[in-house]
Order: sequence, then C-alpha cells, then structure tokens
Amino acid sequence: MFKKTLLASLAVGLLAVAPTASWAAEYTIRLSHGDNENNPTHFGAQMFERLAEEYTNGRVDVQIFPANQLGTEQEVAQALRMGAIEAEILYTGNLVPLAPSVGVMMLPYAFTSNEQVWAAMDALKEPLNERLTEEAGVRILGYFEKGFRVLTNSQRPVETIEDLEGLKIRVSKNNIAIETFKSWGLNPIPMAWAEVFPALQQGVIDGQENPYTTAISSKFYEVQTYITEIHYMIWSGPLIVSERFYQGLPADIQEALNRAGEEAAMYQRGVSGELTEEAKAKLVELGMVLSGPPKDEEKWQTAAQAIWPQFYEDIGGEAWVKEAQAIMEEAIQGN
Ligand code: MLT
Repeated sequence: MFKKTLLASLAVGLLAVAPTASWAAEYTIRLSHGDNENNPTHFGAQMFERLAEEYTNGRVDVQIFPANQLGTEQEVAQALRMGAIEAEILYTGNLVPLAPSVGVMMLPYAFTSNEQVWAAMDALKEPLNERLTEEAGVRILGYFEKGFRVLTNSQRPVETIEDLEGLKIRVSKNNIAIETFKSWGLNPIPMAWAEVFPALQQGVIDGQENPYTTAISSKFYEVQTYITEIHYMIWSGPLIVSERFYQGLPADIQEALNRAGEEAAMYQRGVSGELTEEAKAKLVELGMVLSGPPKDEEKWQTAAQAIWPQFYEDIGGEAWVKEAQAIMEEAIQGN
C-alpha cells in the first residue's frame, strides 16, 4: 500500500515537473549511481529528481545516470571532488577510501536494525559534512539504506563459519570489508562493483555480499544459488554532491537540495523495506536457497567486533570514532 501510493505520487510528480525543468533550468545536476533501474537506489534517485526540481521551481534539472554509466562508484566520487560530476549515490563502503570519517558507519555488527541506522545516519549528517567537505570535497544531502548485506555464493549452503573455507568472495574495496572477512578465515577479493556480475558469471569469484534487493535487480539468481543472511553490515549509502558545485549555488537552492535529499532518503528507506520482503519471496521462486542466519553467528560477530580498534586510525582517529559513537548512541536511544 505504502509503496503503491508513493510510487503513484512519484509518477504523477515526474510528469508534472519534467517539462518545466527541461527548458528553464539554470543548474544541471548529473546524478550517478551503480544500480539498475529496478533497485531502491534508483527509486530514491527519481524521488530526489522530482523534489529537487519542484523545490527549486525548475531552476535545477536533475539527470540520473544509473548502472555505473559515468564510471565506478569510486571513480565518480573522485570526479565529484574535482567538480566534474555534480552528484552521486554510492555504498558507504565505496566512499570510505576517499572520505575516511564516514567509516564510522561501517564498523561490523555495529547496528541491529534498519531503524538504528536511520537514526545514526540522520544524526551524523552535519558532523560528517564538516569532515567530508575537507576530506573528499563532497557533502551529504540525504542518506539511503537498503537492509543487511547478505552473502550469496554458487558453491554450497553456508550455515557455519567453517562452511566459508575456500570460497572466493568479492568484497567492496575498503579495508573494513577486507579485514572483516579475514577475521572469518577467508582471503576476500576486493573488486569494483561494476565488475561483480561478469566475475560471478565467469567463475572468477564464487560469491559476494549485497542486499536482497540487489540480488534481484542485478540478476544474481542467474549465477548464484545460496544465500546466508549475515547481519554484519547494513547497506547505507549517502546521496552526495560535489562541494565545489554546491558552493557555487545560491543559498535558496542549497536549502532546496538539502530538503529534497532528506525527503528522498525517507521515501527510499520505506520503498526499500517493502521491496526487501518481496525480493526474498521472489528469489526462492527463482530457485535460490535461503539458509537464514548462520547457526553460529555469534562467532562471526565476536571475530568481527574484536578487530574494531584496528580501524580507528583509518577512519578519522579514535577521538572522532568516540564522538561519532556518542552521537549515534544518543540518536538511537532517543528514537
Ligand atoms: C558494492 O557492493 O560495491 C555496493 O553495495 C554496490 C551498490 O552500491 O549497490
């Protein structure tokens, strides 16, 4: 019901706004993301397009480029720093190497529910912006979320940590993901998101981890059989804008973009929750075997949490980690 109503209003809004924006726009925002058009990331991007154009009375024209058309998530983030592309939605893990401080969202097994992540992301938006504008020349407008990253593979059901042995698992290119998988006894393969499907297809890797909705939108059911519902990391992803571009905008447009980013994120989180439930049922219909959580997930959790301190220097230093954790904790308690 929620999704149908929101998707219907999105469709009506797109029709209403697009003609104005196409001839009257003073500013163009090219918005890149790495997912296909049936992924919750894209639905959130469409909502941002609609709201940004509406709240600026068509002075801004947002053009969406899905599926890594403008480059990999990390390449595009670099281009934002230079002001060569204006905006992007990307997995937090793909931003960490450029903007270390955002890594506070990535400590394994830090969150136990979507709601906790929403509270944390919203409370951290401005403190993070103070740091990310310096570190990476980007600013967060809104924070998207797509549920837990679940493990898929083509070889066998993974029900215990021992079942991982010998599997070739791709992870995103950041130290936290790499070291977490090492703590489980694996030697993971860091790889750009844009290369994952062909690598699975060709057997270069046996598996990967991403949300249920991505297993549908990226057609992983064609090349993967088994899913294990691990809970080490929720897919969080900021909608970022180039700071160079943003600082060239008048204050009223900046304000409108912030409002559009925050509201698009709220919408995207709701749609994602519904599509996640649908995705699980569909993946079973499509022949995938869902094993649920590992029988010994506390072992995965203990191993991954034990290595938190080794990341602190890489994600902005212990003082920042403690400050961010206090902000998140307060937001989660007050939620
Ligand atoms: C990744 O695994 O690199 C990301 O989760 C892909 C995405 O942004 O959906």
